[in-house]
Amino acid sequence: MSRQQIDIVDLIPVNTNTDNIIKMDEERRLNNRYAVGERLGIGGLSVVYEARDDYSEYYGDDRRLAVKLPLEHLSAKSDIDAFMYAEYAHLSRLSHPNIIKVIDFGIDAEFNIPYIVLEQLNGRLLNEIPLTQFSISMKWNLLYTLFKTIEYLHTQHIVHADINPNNIMYLDDESIKLFDFGISINLSKKQLFELDYNTIKAYNPRYAAPEVIQGDVPTFHSDLFSMAVVCFELYSGQLPYIERSTELFERPITLRDLKLLPFGLRRWFKYALSADPMKRNKLYPLFLDIKKYI
Ligand SMILES: Nc1ncnc2c1ncn2[C@@H]1O[C@H](COP(=O)(O)OP(=O)(O)OP(=O)(O)O)[C@@H](O)[C@H]1O
Ligand SMILES: [Mg+2]
Repeated sequence: MSRQQIDIVDLIPVNTNTDNIIKMDEERRLNNRYAVGERLGIGGLSVVYEARDDYSEYYGDDRRLAVKLPLEHLSAKSDIDAFMYAEYAHLSRLSHPNIIKVIDFGIDAEFNIPYIVLEQLNGRLLNEIPLTQFSISMKWNLLYTLFKTIEYLHTQHIVHADINPNNIMYLDDESIKLFDFGISINLSKKQLFELDYNTIKAYNPRYAAPEVIQGDVPTFHSDLFSMAVVCFELYSGQLPYIERSTELFERPITLRDLKLLPFGLRRWFKYALSADPMKRNKLYPLFLDIKKYI
């Protein structure tokens, strides 16, 4: 199959409303295999439903699955299948306890719609949990796990490109799962299509690094920045800037801005929230030091 570039204008996320959803009734099956159930969530580009796999059920395996489909206005676009396949391809090369597992990709023969089958996550999105519910040790565990997960991603040449509290699920056992690799990049492979990140603005602008807001393609450095913003908010209840990270060009983070954070973490955050991506190189060696203070 030959692939053309996705028309990026077509991918600009729309305001999420339920008119835009591919309606799936109880009995609908994708490719005569995946039975689609209740809606689990909706994002700027896709909708996610509960799913059951007929084959697994036949063999007595009652695993809980989820199926991710593009929103209706995107489903007819010429390269939406390549776009969905890219998420499947990124996830299928990853194996990590804090990253969502992908099970399958398909294009439904009847509706000609691409879908991804994922493990079903049961928990709460990080942005749905009041900060008062996090103890100091829960915050540290979250920071530690997120950092280690991102470090792993980068050893696999994957940039997540949209780290934010909407894409992190906090599970009942207090572990986390990072998901939504919809705009991620595999640096070791040619992309299936070119995304102009600044045009589509599919990332969350509250957490995006300043260079990404200015139009650069996301990198390992911008993932680390976004992760630091998520954790800064977790500790302090606010963003490290008023609205957008580009404010940091004019007003860099000072140690005073970090006073709500544990003392031993402040130096690390100062580098992580640096507007200069190269300064974020220090984060790996500095992280080893942090553990001495915690
Ligand atoms: N595997 C899953 N199990 C349970 N719920 C899920 C799962 N995957 C996604 N969801 C729910 O569906 C919502 C949308 O999923 P996702 O973030 O992957 O879509 P998206 O359209 O790429 O989002 P975005 O708006 O961030 O681009 C999530 O916020 C979450 O509530
Ligand atoms: Mg999302």
